[in-house]
Amino acid sequence: MISELTEQIKQSQWAARALEPDHDRRKEANDIVQEYAEAFLEKLRDTKTYIQAGYDDATLSDTDFSHPHDIDRVIHLLEKHMENPGINPAHGGHLGYIPGGGLYAAALGDYLADVTNKYAGVFFASPGAVRIENALIEWTAKLVGYEKGFGGNITSGGSIANLVAVTTARDAKQLKAKDFDRAVVYTTKQVHHCIDKALIIAGLRECVVRYIETDAQWRIVPAALQQQVEEDKNQGLLPFMIVANAGSTDVGAIDPLQEISAIAKQHGLWLHVDAAYGGYFLLLDEYKEKMKSISEADSVVLDPHKGLFLPYGTGIVLVKQLKHLQNAFAYEANYMQDTVAMTDSISPADVSPELSKHFRGLRMWLPLKLYGEQAFRDCLQEKMLLTKYFTNKVQELGYEIICEPEMTVVAYRFVPQTGDANEFNKKLMDAMHKDGEIFISSTMLDGKFVLRFACLSFRTHIEHVDKLLAMLRRHKEELLK
Ligand SMILES: Cc1ncc(COP(=O)(O)O)c(C=O)c1O
Repeated sequence: MISELTEQIKQSQWAARALEPDHDRRKEANDIVQEYAEAFLEKLRDTKTYIQAGYDDATLSDTDFSHPHDIDRVIHLLEKHMENPGINPAHGGHLGYIPGGGLYAAALGDYLADVTNKYAGVFFASPGAVRIENALIEWTAKLVGYEKGFGGNITSGGSIANLVAVTTARDAKQLKAKDFDRAVVYTTKQVHHCIDKALIIAGLRECVVRYIETDAQWRIVPAALQQQVEEDKNQGLLPFMIVANAGSTDVGAIDPLQEISAIAKQHGLWLHVDAAYGGYFLLLDEYKEKMKSISEADSVVLDPHKGLFLPYGTGIVLVKQLKHLQNAFAYEANYMQDTVAMTDSISPADVSPELSKHFRGLRMWLPLKLYGEQAFRDCLQEKMLLTKYFTNKVQELGYEIICEPEMTVVAYRFVPQTGDANEFNKKLMDAMHKDGEIFISSTMLDGKFVLRFACLSFRTHIEHVDKLLAMLRRHKEELLK
């Protein structure tokens, strides 16, 4: 009986051997993958940033995994059907939304994280991986100005990081289901919609959201906030959280954090700062000053896949007092009993919704170690200078800017002498997308259809901005004809 079973096991092991390629097969696969990656990077400068046509190609929807394929055939499939159409976010011409990065060293970090498959959720399982993630959280917390007693987590992005913050705030303020329809959140129309989603997921669908008046730079007006909180209290509502922006998506607005923090303290409100886009600008002295009271916030979100140029899939949430994060997320399970004695370092699983998690810290740690902080500062500085350059040049072309840029996003539009400005800019946007050499996106601000220049890719240089300006001139003139 046992010998029969042993024989079956051996046969299964032999049959599944493809899952464990030997050295030569690994090398062959590596060479092919690397050759493709190199060709992809080398051709970037000659390719478009956005290709619109061909959405009907459904080759990659194929669900037939019944037989093995050679790696060169599979890579060919990706090259032919995945690379295009769509946006090419690895391209320096990606100036839409908030561009992500894609540092090469981060890809190497992902490769090593996957090959070693370190279990980064629990200190007991991989002290080294957890130490790396906690070191990155500490480094980011120091940037924000948190000194000690803070907690944090590396998430898959800003949306999940904001969800963690909202959930933590809800529990720290001891809101219970019976309070939800009286709970009040204060923010502005500049808030990222992931906050609305986070409120819903956190059970707060019925809460009251107050969009407070903003100034000409789309920043919250503190006096209006103060007045609204007082009115709400008088009406028997439960003000509990302010969500401020440190770099809003639409225009890069930075709310007056010092005044907001004073109001939060006066009324016992949780202050959350969404710095998903703007947070790593704290590496620059100018922004340390502009955002100086960010250290007063109860929680802050920063996205390394924005301001540190990492590939998509990396956000960070920081909470000023670790205990609040633990209250919201620490849990014990019988089958995890062997892990609890190891308490040298906080385990990510105790401060986040995740248990098994990708060792995503490695893609951040490797570039920081290899290149050092200064290279990141220099690159952010370049984006600042390119934004100034664009702001001047686009106005010379006859475009109006909607407000003075505070960071590296510029909202602008062309107002024709006759006809509807929104219609004109929509058509301009279509023409820009059909062209695709450089990719930009648009938004609505107070009923105005505006174009956006969002400069955050580490690959964006002056030649990309010049190409964009040439496109804006060409397509505007064609439309005016
Ligand atoms: C200010 C801000 N907050 C949150 C988010 C959401 O982050 P993610 O796309 O990483 O989930 C974004 C995305 O652009 C953002 O700009």
